Amino acid sequence: MTKNTLTVRRPPDTNMICGVSVKALAEKCGTPLMIYDEKMIEDHFADYMTAFVSDEFDTDIVYASKAFSCPAMIGKVRQAGACLDVVSGGEMHIALAAGMPPEKIFFHGNNKTYEELKTAVEAGCGTIVMDNLAECGTLAEIAAGSKCRVSAMLRINPGVSAHTHDYIMTATSDSKFGIGTDRKDEIAEVVRMADSSEYIHFRGFHSHIGSQIFESSSFEKAAEILIDFCRDMKESYDIDAPWLSLGGGFGIKYTDEDHPVPIKEMCSELIKKCEESIKKTGAGISRIMIEPGRSIAGDAGCTVYRTGYEKTAGERKYIFVDGGMGDNIRPALYEAEYACDLVGRENEPKDTEYTVAGKYCESGDILIKNVMLPEVKDGDLLMIYSTGAYGYSMSSCYNGIGRLPVIFVKDGKARLVLRRETDEDILNLVTEEEVNI
Ligand code: LLP
Repeated sequence: MTKNTLTVRRPPDTNMICGVSVKALAEKCGTPLMIYDEKMIEDHFADYMTAFVSDEFDTDIVYASKAFSCPAMIGKVRQAGACLDVVSGGEMHIALAAGMPPEKIFFHGNNKTYEELKTAVEAGCGTIVMDNLAECGTLAEIAAGSKCRVSAMLRINPGVSAHTHDYIMTATSDSKFGIGTDRKDEIAEVVRMADSSEYIHFRGFHSHIGSQIFESSSFEKAAEILIDFCRDMKESYDIDAPWLSLGGGFGIKYTDEDHPVPIKEMCSELIKKCEESIKKTGAGISRIMIEPGRSIAGDAGCTVYRTGYEKTAGERKYIFVDGGMGDNIRPALYEAEYACDLVGRENEPKDTEYTVAGKYCESGDILIKNVMLPEVKDGDLLMIYSTGAYGYSMSSCYNGIGRLPVIFVKDGKARLVLRRETDEDILNLVTEEEVNI
């Protein structure tokens, strides 16, 4: 397996992204702002759609909308012909409002509410990915009550440990998600309950081992275990599980220290592994899905900030920017690392070490520690690369600072797809209604 030796994905010229001037966008829309390269999103989808294919079984790419979702992004999913993963009524609402065909939606989550499940079932949501026995009971009740047929899968946990941050590792035996593959009786009980409902069509198992994983061996190991598990469930419990979802988690390059396997290569290796395992075990699997989120949206997006004051404290030289943990919580939450440049100055000598800090009222509001840049000049713009996944989607209006706008650029044209959240938007939530209980 070759390692991707490319440096972090920078636009060839930070002044221009897809023929659109970054400085002009910053002038027009203000800062901070997010810019997505639409072509890069399309290319990532195309890589997945062309490489994750097999002659032995059907395949699907299911975009994990938690990475970044808005109607424009859903448009890209539809255009690519991919399916969609949602994890809440809210994400489902965005998807349906943006015209996502409901039958292509997979609804995940470990604690979906009754209302969320009912809305999903009645909207014709394609597949509910159940988490536990109790949820299966609720789903059966809702489906029977609404007389709606629904496909269901069950999330299971193969116990594969992947090298990633603890908070985004999901398939350990004590994970809150799914049921461990060692609890076969419990799994069989869920499937039996699903099968006993005339409205639920049990389709198979789902697993997601974690996120920002670089070793394709972790995915291959999980696939092997899961396929063997499907065979075992057939032999021991006569359970048919023709669909298998391997989840997402494919890592991207945030800094030059990250070495992800290129999408196409990772997909073809994984397909090969699945074909071999299916052949070896004779497991009756006819459809395999993967659910990438980060590796589609991540490096297609960047955030542009206006630099503000500088300060030296102890050994540290800070450069402050006009955003921070409200638009990107990942450094504070996961110690995530990013690369950046001053817009239009990326080729100048980088002789000054800075710590890029935000404007939020927290000491932990640091976006990048110890980065070499040219000496910052008044009003410079700073671009942080690869913020496209889990940046906007985890953003907040902490400190009363509204969410930043998002712009899609392609072929010299820019479109504002999410406007800036204003002070008025935040105040719009305020009411003085009496609560009658
Ligand atoms: N499928 C399931 C069931 C998931 O739980 C996730 C992510 C994905 C697919 C997509 O994983 P991806 O390809 O994007 O790695 N907020 C964290 C990441 C949390 C991921 C949660 N689940 C971060 O910023 O790193």
